[in-house]
Amino acid sequence: MDVSAPEQSVLSGAPTGVGPLPVYRYVVAEKRIVADPAQAAAVERLQALWTKLRHYDPPARLARKSLIGRFLRRKPVDEAPGSEINGLYLVGEVGRGKSMLMDMFFETSDVPRRRRIHFHAFMQEAHARVFAWKQANPGGDDPIPPLADRIADEAILLCFDEFQINDIADAILLGRLFEALFERGVIVVATSNTVPDDLFRGQPGRDAFLPFIAVLKRHLDVLVLEAQQDYRRLRPNTDDTWHVPPGPQSRAKLDAAFAELSRNATVKPEQLHVMGRVLPVPQAAAGVARFSFPELCARNLGAGDYLAIATHFQAVILDDIPLLTPDNHNEARRFINLIDNLYDHRVKLIASAAAMPDQLYPTGDGAKAFERTASRLMEMRTEAYFALAHLT
Ligand SMILES: Nc1ncnc2c1ncn2[C@@H]1O[C@H](COP(=O)(O)OP(=O)(O)OP(=O)(O)O)[C@@H](O)[C@H]1O
Ligand SMILES: [Mg+2]
Repeated sequence: MDVSAPEQSVLSGAPTGVGPLPVYRYVVAEKRIVADPAQAAAVERLQALWTKLRHYDPPARLARKSLIGRFLRRKPVDEAPGSEINGLYLVGEVGRGKSMLMDMFFETSDVPRRRRIHFHAFMQEAHARVFAWKQANPGGDDPIPPLADRIADEAILLCFDEFQINDIADAILLGRLFEALFERGVIVVATSNTVPDDLFRGQPGRDAFLPFIAVLKRHLDVLVLEAQQDYRRLRPNTDDTWHVPPGPQSRAKLDAAFAELSRNATVKPEQLHVMGRVLPVPQAAAGVARFSFPELCARNLGAGDYLAIATHFQAVILDDIPLLTPDNHNEARRFINLIDNLYDHRVKLIASAAAMPDQLYPTGDGAKAFERTASRLMEMRTEAYFALAHLT
């Protein structure tokens, strides 16, 4: 269980400067991944976008900054003439290889200003920037144009992993922000488990969100990846990371894992600072944190807290994950969020739980999203996952 073993990239030795399709063919030929026709078709679309981006010339900054230029551009979206495609929205079931393909595209892209970011993190940053702008410009009218300018200046290619809309504040900000980004010629590639038409479905205020869905569909090619299987489940699992059920035996295993991962360093409480608040970490040692499930998921913590944990700690020990019922949908939502962040940053997880991941939250609000969590938890139990380096 060595968490500092070097990562062997699946792309190492692959051809460079030729785009994602030759890279995909190479890793298949090398038998590092299984050939999958649906993935191959998706990579062809990514290759086409890659080729287009070689000679990509976004709208001139000057033209869009001038008052008259802006006025002329301000057409209602519905009347926008034969609108330009600004990228690809890759959607599909869990573990189909969406993030892998997007990363191949991103790694091979030669666009100098490009950024790959988890969508949660992007939204948090956007809200923080709006907040800061309002502080600096009291009484200022509209934070969206300067925010879009800044984002477009930083990156003309944005790759979003895990595109999803969870709350109304995101929904409100996104509609205008994306319109402004597309107007500035920003290219977006996104992965998601949800087709655009189902985003934010069943949530209060969804009607106000519909124009954004229209914007997304107009500017992004939606590609459904119907790959053959959840590839996370192909790999053998170890049985020393997920201990069922909680109790003295599991606790002793988690104690031992904590000591091994932290190389017997002294355990102390720590504090993380998250957006002006303090997040207590009851037990921490040498980059490893230990929490009980209620400490992390039964309190009012959010994406920012989980992100801070995921970037700060290379391993997390989590005691006593219970069976979750429909009444526990808030705990389930937080747990989904926690695991998304841990997985995204390759944080190693050792847990005790009332059941295997697939049986933890069978029904209730968000049970569908939990399928991704279960798939991730299965991958997080593999040796291959343990060999990955922590991403801070
Ligand atoms: N063709 C393949 N052969 C073998 N392994 C694969 C293949 N495609 C993907 N994988 C592996 O399966 C795992 C899941 O892939 P990935 O993370 O890209 O899925 P995803 O579609 O983004 O899932 P999610 O919706 O949960 O984010 C990764 O470890 C990836 O390397
Ligand atoms: Mg993914």
